[in-house]
Amino acid sequence: MFLCSLCLFVAKWFLCLFVACLTLSGIVDKFRVTGGRELHGRVAISGAKNSALPCMAAALLTPETVTLHNIPYVRDIITQRRLLEDIGATVLTPELRTHKISAAHVELFEAPYELVKTMRASVLALGPLLARFGKAKVSLPGGCAIGTRPIDLHLAGFESFGAEVKLEAGNVVARAPSDGRLRAADIHFNKVTVTGTENLMMAATLARGTTTLSNAACEPEIVDLADLLNKMGARVNGAGTETIQIEGVESLGGAEHTIIPDRIETGTFIVAAALTCGELEIKDCRPDHLTAIIEQLRSVGVVIREVNPTTLEVSCPDGLKAGHVTTAPYPKFPTDMQAQYMVLMTQAQGRSEIVETVFENRFMHASELQRMGAQIHIDGRSAIVDGPSPLNGARVIASDLRASASLVLAGLIAKDETLIDRVYHIDRGYEKIEAKLRAVGADIERVIAPVTATQSSEFNLQVASLQESKLKLEL
Ligand code: UD1
Repeated sequence: MFLCSLCLFVAKWFLCLFVACLTLSGIVDKFRVTGGRELHGRVAISGAKNSALPCMAAALLTPETVTLHNIPYVRDIITQRRLLEDIGATVLTPELRTHKISAAHVELFEAPYELVKTMRASVLALGPLLARFGKAKVSLPGGCAIGTRPIDLHLAGFESFGAEVKLEAGNVVARAPSDGRLRAADIHFNKVTVTGTENLMMAATLARGTTTLSNAACEPEIVDLADLLNKMGARVNGAGTETIQIEGVESLGGAEHTIIPDRIETGTFIVAAALTCGELEIKDCRPDHLTAIIEQLRSVGVVIREVNPTTLEVSCPDGLKAGHVTTAPYPKFPTDMQAQYMVLMTQAQGRSEIVETVFENRFMHASELQRMGAQIHIDGRSAIVDGPSPLNGARVIASDLRASASLVLAGLIAKDETLIDRVYHIDRGYEKIEAKLRAVGADIERVIAPVTATQSSEFNLQVASLQESKLKLEL
């Protein structure tokens, strides 16, 4: 009897200790990738999260229902949905990838720090709220650790619309002129900004008069948003060019719209096929949105065949050769493909130079790739990659969304096992990447592992060293 009670007491004590450890250290998803498998088969591309996010925000412009199809099932979308619901909108999902959003009863005109800090695109609530309700409050954003990423151009644009914009305790507080309606303006962006263009385009749809946005971003996601806005009754012209004209209307209505395929996910799978010397059929994509990516990858030896307007076939029968690239706004080579391209160049014959012009400090993946054996030298905004160099599996840390994709790609070709920590970054923007890769032959699994305090402190040391290398890169 006494022995029984003692055992129970000890068991309870261990359970408490275990729970305490979990609470202190948390549960962290990782990817375990064993390299060396060629990828073969067919992969379907999901909807573009960078298009779905502004389209969801656009639903705030109307009291009627906006139905969006082909919404990717990724974490940023869940965050955006929570933001809309916090504001008072209702979001129904009759099917997994369909969102029916109704902002008929908006009660709160603000996006709280808890959401904005995890996703920079939350600032997209500003334009619609300000335009429809004449007031908005949004925390200054966080998101990926890729440079300072200010939103000064968004704010200057709202001021040109006659709004009063103040920074109060880490929040942006904006108010329309006294009659509650924004005034159209001619706005020239001194730097191309994607979400800045989207925010001001949405705000201008309900402004008094005709707005002209010049040096606007031309990304396909801008065109997709303009298509949705026009279906809602807006008058947007020129989206996809550097000059967009928006004739303001009194009100907008409901609409139904299908989100375009994700061009960066498409590019990532093209690189995966080429790296592993496999052969992939990539379906449900839009090759016409990837002209610069396809051109660049072809120039280094990747064979890409357009089977039809939504399907590509990719292989790399004769190996890769080095090729320089410079990132720039659309239609040029996107910064969101830079990290993946860097991995590809580690396997190419010769020396490649990769110049990052869109964001400063977007080479954080380089130090992790170096730990796997890649020959990369960073010099300011330039990365010199010497190849081919065999990669070895290692324990690495994902630092931002596209950096994590590059580590997965590296893991696919590395010798032995690669363990990627902090995969929540990849979950922000890639729908079930491990399942899609496994279906075409990759040896990758998600490890949902509680971390112990010891592992946690080892991990923190590694994070600290990553932060240190980030600092070095910044210098
Ligand atoms: C969007 C994409 C992101 C992509 C990026 C560049 C979404 C949700 N995200 O991010 O995946 O990497 O475009 O293609 O669509 N800038 C300013 N002031 C501003 C705004 C931007 O100086 O007010 C600068 C940024 O610091 C950066 C450059 O402009 O150097 C481009 O940023 P921007 O196009 O705004 O990026 P995001 O819209 O945040």
